[in-house]
Formats: sequence, C-alpha cells, structure tokens
Amino acid sequence: MTASAGRIRARSAELARIGGAGTSVTRLGLSPEERRAHELVGRWLERLGARVRRDEANNVIGRFGGRGPALLVGSHLDSVPRGGRYDGALGVVVAVEAMEILAGARLRRPVEVVGWTDEEGVRFGIGLFGSAAAFGKLPPRARERADAAGTSIAAALRALGLRGDPARARRRRGELFAYLEPHIEQGPRLAERGLPLAVVSSIVGILHGRVTVRGRQDHAGTTPMGQRADALAGAAEMIARLEAAARRRADAVGTVGEIAVAPGAKNVVPGECVFSLDLRAPHQRTLDALVREVRATIGRVAAARGLAASLDVLNQVPVARLDRGLRAALRRACAAAGVDAPELVSGAGHDAENAQLAGVPTGMIFIRSRGGSHSPRESADHRDAALAASALAHAIVALAG
Ligand code: HGY
Ligand code: MN
Ligand code: MN
Repeated sequence: MTASAGRIRARSAELARIGGAGTSVTRLGLSPEERRAHELVGRWLERLGARVRRDEANNVIGRFGGRGPALLVGSHLDSVPRGGRYDGALGVVVAVEAMEILAGARLRRPVEVVGWTDEEGVRFGIGLFGSAAAFGKLPPRARERADAAGTSIAAALRALGLRGDPARARRRRGELFAYLEPHIEQGPRLAERGLPLAVVSSIVGILHGRVTVRGRQDHAGTTPMGQRADALAGAAEMIARLEAAARRRADAVGTVGEIAVAPGAKNVVPGECVFSLDLRAPHQRTLDALVREVRATIGRVAAARGLAASLDVLNQVPVARLDRGLRAALRRACAAAGVDAPELVSGAGHDAENAQLAGVPTGMIFIRSRGGSHSPRESADHRDAALAASALAHAIVALAG
C-alpha cells in the first residue's frame, strides 16, 4: 500500500495555513483557529466516507464502518504559540492518508480517526485535555479551570457551540479496542541515525505545576539588601537549583517556560513571582525523586529568604509503557513499508498516554523530524510521512482488516 507524499504535503500545507505565519503555526486549544482545523479535517474524512462528529470536549472524530469496538487512530490539531507545523498535525494527516489508501478495503472492524483538541494545554494548563476527557483522565473540576483572561473551559466550550462539560466526551469501556498515534519525533535521534520511522516503547511521566513565591514589595533604592524579601530573586535561585537537580539525573528534564512578576516595575522590589514547572523522566522513580527534591528546594530557599512559596500541581501523568503486542505489530507494519524501525522512548507527552493509562492498548509511530520542535524551525519530510502512512495502513489491516 503506497501512500502519496504529494497528497500529504498538500494537506499539511492546507492545515498549516490555519493560524500559520511563515513556518510557524499558532492554533491554541479551544480557539477559533483550532476549530477551523477540525472542520477542515472533518471535510477530508467525510469525503473519504466517514461519519464525522464533534464530541463535548471539542474533539473531531470520523468513523468508518459499522457498529462494535473500533480501532482509533489520530493525533492532535492544536499547537503551542508560534509552534511548528508538524507537531500533532502531521500525525492527523498521516491517519487521513492511511484511510485514503485503504478506501475500498473491506475492514472487518470499525476505524475512527480523531483530531484531539488542546493537547498542549497552553491556555488552561491541562495538557492532553481532549484525550483526558475521552479517557476519563481530567483533573477534578477541570471545566472551571480558567485562562489568563478569566475565561473558563466551560465558557470556551460553550463559545464553540458545545454544552460546556468536557466529561460528557468520555468513551464507554469497550468502545475502542486499540489506539494508534503517528507523531513526529520532535527530537534528533532518528535524523542522527538516518532512519525515517521508529516505534515508541514508552512515554515519559510528566508533572506540570505552578510555583507562587510571595515576598515583600519595597522601594528598590531605600531598602537595604539585607532587609529584602525579594520574590523574584528567590524564584531565580529556586529555578537555578531545580535546573541543576534535573541535570544531575540521567534522562530527566526540568523546564520553566513561563514567569510573571508583580508589580513589575524596575524600581520596585518584587512582592510576588509565579513560574511554571515542567518536570519529566522516563522512569517513575526518577520523576518522583526529582519532584521531591524540587519541592524541598522551594521550601529551603523560601525559608532562607523570608519568603512564602507554594507549588500547585496542574497536571500529572505517570510514565506510560505502550502495549507490547502493538509495538510488535507496528514494527511488522513498518517492515511491510520497507523500514526496519527501532524502538524509542518519547520525551514528549502525547495523547497516547491517556489511552494506554485508561487500559486501551496503544501504540505510536514516530516520524523523523528536524529543527527541534515547539518552534518555527520544526520540519519533517513528507516522504517519511508517506512511509508512516503506509505502515499505519498495514497496521490497520492487521488489526481491523
Ligand atoms: O509538551 C509536550 O511534550 C507535548 O508536545 N505536548
Ligand atoms: Mn507539542
Ligand atoms: Mn504533539
């Protein structure tokens, strides 16, 4: 089954025009741009004969075939601000291409193609949101979570014409018998090894949090250094120490991507500082130890500086080992597409985690990418994506054919 790199390139380009600027894309979760991307993918799926629907969490789903437990394939359609054009989107285009080359094939079991909403969690802080709703993994009171402008998830969903309760999107047990997600690697390993595809063995565990540091707002000129409770200086020491803690642990990573200071004037000692936390590791005990050390560091630095500090956990996803049987099936499918695919651990989080952790056997195919990710420099070769679509089509036939 030969996929068309040209068709994949054309669909990728059409998708990238939605929220696109140069080589970057900004399509935040639950935004009008993301909605337009879902509608475009819905039209592609309808033209291929799928029955298309939107669930109450704003995911778009196209179903091929009749009743009974379905094989789910797909990825997400949102992006980070000024992100790349391939993160998530190329996986959905590959899933559509697989169904295009299977048009007319008699599949014994139904197949659904999904475009997940708000995988990045940029606006509301809940990463993997769309799949968390589908697989019953939303944090408590998720619908009340609000963005910086005070708009809640419920209000954002209602503004998109939905009822405002994402929990209604939860799939019943047994509705899906497996989930397959194609996605770019977002790292350098396949490019360094000169390989187009890999099969994912497991996905790192992730903790997303928010640290609030409170000190004492004061005059920058008249307050002696020994009498300050400087929230930003304290946060800076915490950030440097948590970065060092992550560096000391092989394969662990720690990132602070957001920071806000109040009141935010050059001649005022900051009274408050809020910064984000993104901690990850491929082994649960490594992640747990890193989280413990970060918590202890925050407490120690705050005590030494006369500050108050708190860590709010926004979202926590444990390490997800993907299904052994599907990993073997995907290696066979890649071989059928002419690729001897290695297995890699994913340092990026994916919707696949929620499916696997909810007990739906899950597999992932990585597609070689270059230029990093979550950046306008992200790039991928549509010929590699065509190999992924052929492999995915082989896997669909093996599982649902
Ligand atoms: O952050 C991640 O790992 C994913 O791209 N959302
Ligand atoms: Mn991403
Ligand atoms: Mn992604």
